[in-house]
Amino acid sequence: MTDHSLRKPVRKAVFPVAGLGTRFLPATKAIPKEMLPIIDRPLIQYAVDEAREAGIEQMIFVTGRGKTAMVEHFDHAFELEATLRERDKALDALEPTRIQPGNLVAVRQQVPLGLGHAIWCARAIVGDEPFAIILPDELMIGHNDGTGGCMKQMMQAYNEVGGNLISVLEVPHEKVSSYGVIAPGNKLDGFGGTLTEVNGLVEKPKAEDAPSNLIISGRYILQADVMRTLENQEKGAGGEIQLTDAMAKMIGHQPFHAVTFNGRRFDCGSKVGFVEATLALALERPDIGEAVRAMAKRLLA
Ligand code: UTP
Repeated sequence: MTDHSLRKPVRKAVFPVAGLGTRFLPATKAIPKEMLPIIDRPLIQYAVDEAREAGIEQMIFVTGRGKTAMVEHFDHAFELEATLRERDKALDALEPTRIQPGNLVAVRQQVPLGLGHAIWCARAIVGDEPFAIILPDELMIGHNDGTGGCMKQMMQAYNEVGGNLISVLEVPHEKVSSYGVIAPGNKLDGFGGTLTEVNGLVEKPKAEDAPSNLIISGRYILQADVMRTLENQEKGAGGEIQLTDAMAKMIGHQPFHAVTFNGRRFDCGSKVGFVEATLALALERPDIGEAVRAMAKRLLA
């Protein structure tokens, strides 16, 4: 029997952006990691665009001290816009930064106690609805074939199976110890091999104990019940309140599936991943692609 209460529409997305970004210091001393640009768009912009494409209306930023730039980014910039108009310059570049009044909410995580704690800080805004989570430092780029971005693909799966979903990707087995790893169950028919049941979840396992090499990759659709689990959550791996541990407790009580994203993922929380994303997207841009290709050839010669 289908439990319709686990298929309510997903209208809200939480963006946990209160981390310290230590891997990018000193760049992240005064600005958040999520404001670092891939060419000319900050990471947070890609994340919000992905949510919008999936039909999500309300964006909830879980921020911390020194992170106001992200809220400013989605505000009107009166002086800038007036000056651009006076100078007869186009305002098109600012279009993606416009957000319906009331559709951006920021809450603070006063102390960075971990991803699970950051999500819990959004509980009053999330209320009793299912919600999406997007980690902006994991940049997910869909193919240009109409399948859409990662959250859109997950939303399509959610409309079919409801419950809880996470996006996963395969990594070499020796790398699993840095991530949340799934114990996969059956693959579901009719999804082209992209939807798998989740039988278990474990945060940062030793390679020899890992149940698979499928890691959670920064996108989630969860039922609000996870907030109640997080409320009583003990600290887990790394002394942090882990979202993975809270999700693991929901397995067996509610449907839990993993979506393998049909697209590319760049780990922009790491320096090499960040450079890779910049290069890959620059090479594809009609305005600068050719010049970047020529530049790369010169550098490698
Ligand atoms: P990371 O593990 O990438 O940590 O967090 P970080 O602080 O951003 O970066 P490093 O490792 O120090 O360089 C994953 C996501 O969870 C958020 C981060 O902002 C990031 O989007 N996060 C993490 C919080 O919002 N609060 C936390 O307490 C921890």
